[in-house]
Amino acid sequence: MHTPVPTLPGGGWPLGESTVTRFGYGAMRLAGPGVLGPPADRDGALAVLRTAVDLGITHIDTAGAYGPRVTNRLIREALHPYPAGLRLVTKVGAVRDEQGGWPPARRPDELRRAVHENLDDLGLDALDVVNLRLGDASGPQPGSLAEPFAALVDLQRQGLIRHLGVSNATAAQVAEARSLAPIVCVQNLYNLAYRQDDELIDSLADQGIAYVPFFPLGGFTPVQSTALSAVADRLGATPISVTLAWLLRRSPNILLIPGTSSVAHLRENVAGAGLALPDEALAALEGIGRRPRPTRPAD
Ligand SMILES: NC(=O)c1ccc[n+]([C@@H]2O[C@H](COP(=O)([O-])OP(=O)(O)OC[C@H]3O[C@@H](n4cnc5c(N)ncnc54)[C@H](OP(=O)(O)O)[C@@H]3O)[C@@H](O)[C@H]2O)c1
Repeated sequence: MHTPVPTLPGGGWPLGESTVTRFGYGAMRLAGPGVLGPPADRDGALAVLRTAVDLGITHIDTAGAYGPRVTNRLIREALHPYPAGLRLVTKVGAVRDEQGGWPPARRPDELRRAVHENLDDLGLDALDVVNLRLGDASGPQPGSLAEPFAALVDLQRQGLIRHLGVSNATAAQVAEARSLAPIVCVQNLYNLAYRQDDELIDSLADQGIAYVPFFPLGGFTPVQSTALSAVADRLGATPISVTLAWLLRRSPNILLIPGTSSVAHLRENVAGAGLALPDEALAALEGIGRRPRPTRPAD
């Protein structure tokens, strides 16, 4: 059954049995500095979440590791009982250490604990989508995901998870996951300036699987380039609007989860993503990609 999609830039894309808005929201920025602890402006954080839903967004990305356990509890406080059609997508497979690092936690018992913590903090009986976060802070790493993924499939069979996905994954790991159980999404680092997953995106689109770029605006290193600024100037738009509109245009299975802690930025981003990009702008932007991987001080 598909739920109706409000008019947001990009329309909708199926995620499991629902259609979500391609313009979604990434909640990581609602935690404190370094994605640790509570936000400085708690009311502001709650307002961002409520505004996202008021604007018609039906896809919110989160993780128990944000805070840790901060963004999930903010989501529950701001939005529970959840409106029909809202889909909360979470991640397991990493925790936080005392230095603010993101060490892996992918043993079956660690994954079970993480799923139960997400259920408790979000106030849910079943999680809509759970991504298995792989790799490390430097990016995807090769290796079999069979054991941790099987643990999540088991939790899915118990009715605690509706749909599965993978994050920070190589193409081989995506293929391995799909050989074990259906997945509805892949969440990897991708943006206008970092396009390592171009082939993967196209093949997932053919299979009806969502590709959800994290750091769509460049994350901790905002996407910057003279070509991008020139296109933005010519169109009378901001580079951020061009970056978001380009992602929506890149492939129909791309779902946006730009992060922000600001209601004003959220509104700007929703409006800006609807920017029409003429062919000459697309051609000018094409040369920007395929840069070295950006540094990741967190996550
Ligand atoms: N799977 C993974 O391993 C992984 C890793 C990282 C992130 N994620 C997910 O991906 C989501 C997006 O990543 P992200 O939030 O780190 O990076 P991002 O969306 O690329 O960029 C967010 C940054 O852009 C700024 N920003 C947003 N809109 C703006 C505007 N209109 N004007 C000026 N600045 C603006 C935000 O600052 P303000 O707060 O000031 O707006 C924030 O510093 C996260 O929220 C999280 O859910 C997943």
